[in-house]
Amino acid sequence: MNKKTFYITTPIYYPSGNPHLGHSYCTVAADVIARYKRLAGYDVMFLTGTDEHGQKIELNAQKENLQPKEYVDKLVDEFRQLWDIMDISNDRYIRTTDDYHVKAVQKIFKKLYEKGEIYKGKYEGWYCTPCESFWTQAQLVDEKCPDCGREVKLTREEAYFFKLAKYADRILKLYDENPEFLEPESRRHEMANFIKSGLNDLCVSRTSFSWGIPVDFDQKHVVYVWLDALTNYITALGYSSDDDSDFKKYWPANVHFVGKEIVRFHAIIWPAILMALDLPLPHKIFGHGWLLFGDGTKMSKSKGNVVDPQILCDRYGVDAIKYFLMREIPFGSDSVFTNEALIKRINFDLANDLGNLLSRTTSMIEKYFDGILPETIEKNAEDNDLIDMAVSLREKYIGYMEKFQFSNALAKVWKLISKANKYIEETAPWALSRDQKQNNRLACILYNLCEVLRIVTILITPFMPNTSPIIADQIGATDEVLSWELANKWGGLSLTTKIKKGKALFPRIDMQKELEELNRFVN
Ligand code: ME8
Repeated sequence: MNKKTFYITTPIYYPSGNPHLGHSYCTVAADVIARYKRLAGYDVMFLTGTDEHGQKIELNAQKENLQPKEYVDKLVDEFRQLWDIMDISNDRYIRTTDDYHVKAVQKIFKKLYEKGEIYKGKYEGWYCTPCESFWTQAQLVDEKCPDCGREVKLTREEAYFFKLAKYADRILKLYDENPEFLEPESRRHEMANFIKSGLNDLCVSRTSFSWGIPVDFDQKHVVYVWLDALTNYITALGYSSDDDSDFKKYWPANVHFVGKEIVRFHAIIWPAILMALDLPLPHKIFGHGWLLFGDGTKMSKSKGNVVDPQILCDRYGVDAIKYFLMREIPFGSDSVFTNEALIKRINFDLANDLGNLLSRTTSMIEKYFDGILPETIEKNAEDNDLIDMAVSLREKYIGYMEKFQFSNALAKVWKLISKANKYIEETAPWALSRDQKQNNRLACILYNLCEVLRIVTILITPFMPNTSPIIADQIGATDEVLSWELANKWGGLSLTTKIKKGKALFPRIDMQKELEELNRFVN
């Protein structure tokens, strides 16, 4: 039987500076979902990449006296290296300068032109280069870009236009009939209001600079960078190429993860382009919130906090950073990043709660049973609460993961971890160990703790793929007992496997010392 497919994407990032923690945030979230779906048996396609054309990149390259391609090559390496370091499991990486993409975009542009969806005219209006966005006079706020608040430039040039305005009603109907198309709900209301305030046709070519994909039938035009960028989601699958089998297999996407500032492009322009091409629409656009840095903005210019993902991964390990990003910030909301909050999570959730549960369990099994539990264990009704909570966790976790509520999913897992730590206090294995007659009961308690750890290990794998094998190794869990199918069943572990206490999963960090240490990196 063919597996069910799942296609997930991140935005393709501008290589206009080094990747920062904000880029990691969305990529990690998509990685978690990709890993979760693979674990649950799906055939997953996970795409990320870089958006390499446009005026912003051309200007940045000029400032560094480089050709645009040389300039992006250097930065794309940085992005790819970071995804390697962060163990991002993308199946494909698209660069919009890749030849296949360039050809496909030219074909798409021509097709839309031939269908009468694109026409030639004259553009006169305002342009925000950092956002690569066109605005009318009425849309400006205090003469500045309404999205980012920066300067806009008056632009007058011959241009091709896409008939966006005629799709307004269809898109509003789409939001009404399929509210799940755009989430969270607040973004849907914002977009519906934006459409209702009046949609103009969209300028889709530029003539005042050259770093873009040339319109092949009118070479002085380059394709507007957002048309080039949005179509990556289908060109990466081979759309309009000789081999479009992946397009047939994976399109429409299950979800596009995007930051809230680019929801407009994804929830209005992208569906309109797909409608014009007579293609199915993605199932969902999810607009996540921002990680706010020291100065209260989305930019990574921090005041007093280290936000370079490479430095953070180096100091605390990739899994700790991933855990923090997914646990601390509800996916649809904004949240201020501080090093202090990160260290707190590492100390409390990872070192204390998870780390202690593992080390207490494994050291007691080593101490009382030489690392191997006896086959006779004695069940007791007082264990039922813990067991029920453990076996029912997967269902609750699925409920949250399906809604991209990463923080809630992890909170549920940690509730079980806390319960298990409390179970140790309540059952006091050290007291039982002094009474030979209690040996079977003691074994049962320690077995229950291992089982909790086994279930926890499965469910944290999408978030912390490097940590779960370490726990698995210490509790002697093989891949078979770590399957998704056994995540809601009790009794997976064999009693006779050897338990090996290892070194601390997440060493505790001295907050004061560490914050002082981090000052070294802050300028
Ligand atoms: O917009 N907090 O690229 P971009 C959370 N090329 N997420 C953040 C963030 C922050 N502080 N900073 C960046 C573009 N992001 C276009 C996209 S897609 C067809 C084209 C994440 O380099 C977030 O997901 O400006 C945001 O939408 C994306 O990076 C923007 O990346």
